[in-house]
Amino acid sequence: MKGSGATCERTRKERFIAHIMLGAWYKLGLFLLCYQIISLEGHPEGHYVAAVYEHRSILTPNPKVLTDRESALRLMNQNLDLYEEQVMAAAKEGVQIIVFPEDGIHGFNFTRDSLYPFLDFLPSLQSEEWNPCLEPYKFNDTEVLQRLSCMAIMGQMYLVANLGTKQPCNSSDAHCPADGRYQFNTNVVFSDNGTFVTSYRKQNLYFEYAFDTPPEVDYSTFDTPFAEKFGIFICFDILFFEPAVRLVKDYGVKHIVFTAAWMNQLPLLASIEIQQAFAVAFNVNVLAVNNHHPSLGMTGSGIHSPRRSFWYHNMESPEGKLIIAQISDPPADADLLWNDTSSTTESYREFFSKEPSCEENDIDAPCNKGWSHETVPSFHSTMMYDNFTLVPAWEEQGSLQVCSNSLCCYVDYQRHVLSDDFYALGVFDDLHTVHGTYYVQACALVKCGGPQFETCGHEITNATDTFDFHLWGNFSTSYVFPILLTSGMTLEIPGQVGWEGSHYFMRKNQLSEGLLTAALYGRWYERD
Ligand SMILES: *[C@@H]1O[C@H](CO)[C@@H](O)[C@H](O)[C@H]1NC(C)=O
Ligand SMILES: *[C@@H]1O[C@H](CO)[C@@H](O)[C@H](O)[C@H]1NC(C)=O
Ligand SMILES: *[C@@H]1O[C@H](CO)[C@@H](O)[C@H](O)[C@H]1NC(C)=O
Ligand SMILES: *[C@@H]1O[C@H](CO)[C@@H](O)[C@H](O)[C@H]1NC(C)=O
Ligand SMILES: *[C@@H]1O[C@H](CO)[C@@H](O)[C@H](O)[C@H]1NC(C)=O
Ligand SMILES: *[C@@H]1O[C@H](CO)[C@@H](O)[C@H](O)[C@H]1NC(C)=O
Ligand SMILES: *[C@@H]1O[C@H](CO)[C@@H](O)[C@H](O)[C@H]1NC(C)=O
Ligand SMILES: *[C@@H]1O[C@H](CO)[C@@H](O)[C@H](O)[C@H]1NC(C)=O
Repeated sequence: MKGSGATCERTRKERFIAHIMLGAWYKLGLFLLCYQIISLEGHPEGHYVAAVYEHRSILTPNPKVLTDRESALRLMNQNLDLYEEQVMAAAKEGVQIIVFPEDGIHGFNFTRDSLYPFLDFLPSLQSEEWNPCLEPYKFNDTEVLQRLSCMAIMGQMYLVANLGTKQPCNSSDAHCPADGRYQFNTNVVFSDNGTFVTSYRKQNLYFEYAFDTPPEVDYSTFDTPFAEKFGIFICFDILFFEPAVRLVKDYGVKHIVFTAAWMNQLPLLASIEIQQAFAVAFNVNVLAVNNHHPSLGMTGSGIHSPRRSFWYHNMESPEGKLIIAQISDPPADADLLWNDTSSTTESYREFFSKEPSCEENDIDAPCNKGWSHETVPSFHSTMMYDNFTLVPAWEEQGSLQVCSNSLCCYVDYQRHVLSDDFYALGVFDDLHTVHGTYYVQACALVKCGGPQFETCGHEITNATDTFDFHLWGNFSTSYVFPILLTSGMTLEIPGQVGWEGSHYFMRKNQLSEGLLTAALYGRWYERD
């Protein structure tokens, strides 16, 4: 293992140097080019200013009670008033695109019928252009769309928001619900002149009985003058292949707009964890926004690039939060990403030089000396409703292995601060069946809730022990999300991630905060 690891390091370093040299010439050219553009436009080429607003939606007190359109609009306008304030604040900062969260305008907990008055009509616009602010008469029941369109004009920015929409249907459509209409959980996009650009109807509903799944998957993308292609999806969608992964793989999307009303679930699925992991895994930017209701576990938004995250997570404040950041198109070559000071090959050599050395090409047969698993008995504990198999990470430094079904997870670790905190390496390779059914392959180094085995998987939010680690597993899926969460719900960017032979790995040295979770969260979509 160590031998082949070092070989990889060398080739990576060589490639890396080649990239730096190429990059230097390229950047010189770009710099001269940019200089002009900066002075003209105020933004360097390929950079743009994005905003997400973690909105605390004003909720109707009785979402299950039937109301009329007028009352529904009165409530929704209160939320839209707050959106407008944020758009104006963002405009002052030169924001070019702003994103508002799922359920931000109408709220949640409706029945199918009680939701109806809250729905805007969603026209199917093929080649037709529509500016709802300037052409309000074109379609009835589009008051919310009109206000959003007007806000885009006022702020002169692209605007993405989530609302409930309705589309009438009849028996000529075999999927048409019995009440003669579809009700969709919908994102809409307006351009900076208020034009309706595109819509996306949520594919993977999360027990939202008031809404219908669209009869066909929407692959919604849009272009802007300031960046490469954007793709859109909503909340629970992030855990599924359609449309999230396909947008990245087949539609060439480089920026994701992700709206959510996400209830955090530690240790692996807090919203900021999965948002950043998606950006790192797919080398895309993710403009992610959550609804803000800490009492429901909803907080956590961010503007994530593959190598940097501007995030917000706040369980105390009752208020919303506007996050603004300048980002650029993700680099075409993901190798360039792993250039932070904590992931130089030198520091890894030093780290690994403490380990027993093995023969090269033994990645599939790790040398026995390195593994203490034979002497460490595994135990079981429930993590996010899943029965993980774990081994304790008690030592100051060590090498651990734990397997379940066809997945084996490995970690080499070294602690810098050694407290009494109890950590364990866990594996899960099975169908997750609570709050949704989906197949998970996960390797997770977690801080446990206390000294007892059964506390591993508890929701912990602080830690003091910093680690250097190399975590890897022989995943059967190619879709693995690297998660790295540190004390106080802070994010750090992995030092390196990727494939080494048949193993997916993450390395990190010099964490600046205590470790909460280092995980490789794999989704084996075919097994769902
Ligand atoms: C939604 O309804 C469920 C029960 O139907 C309740 O437990 C939950 O608190 C409600 N949430 C809100 C935000 O009203
Ligand atoms: C809007 O509704 C009114 C009243 O029901 C109707 O007269 C009008 O034709 C509708 N307009 C459109 C564009 O559907
Ligand atoms: C059913 O809906 C289709 C498409 O919207 C429409 O063309 C057709 O006229 C409708 N049929 C009836 C019987 O209403
Ligand atoms: C408004 O923006 C859209 C999308 O960028 C563009 O296609 C359209 O030409 C613009 N319309 C006007 C009137 O500028
Ligand atoms: C990589 O590091 C070098 C030296 O610190 C720096 O000049 C370069 O901009 C970095 N590249 C990236 C892509 O961050
Ligand atoms: C977890 O799995 C192990 C081994 O299959 C089993 O012995 C244990 O009872 C399971 N635990 C729970 C809580 O289901
Ligand atoms: C992962 O490694 C273990 C142990 O070597 C092996 O039994 C298992 O078959 C491997 N899984 C895959 C998918 O290759
Ligand atoms: C960590 O969290 C525990 C439990 O919430 C708390 O008792 C402890 O004071 C916290 N420690 C720090 C350093 O914040």
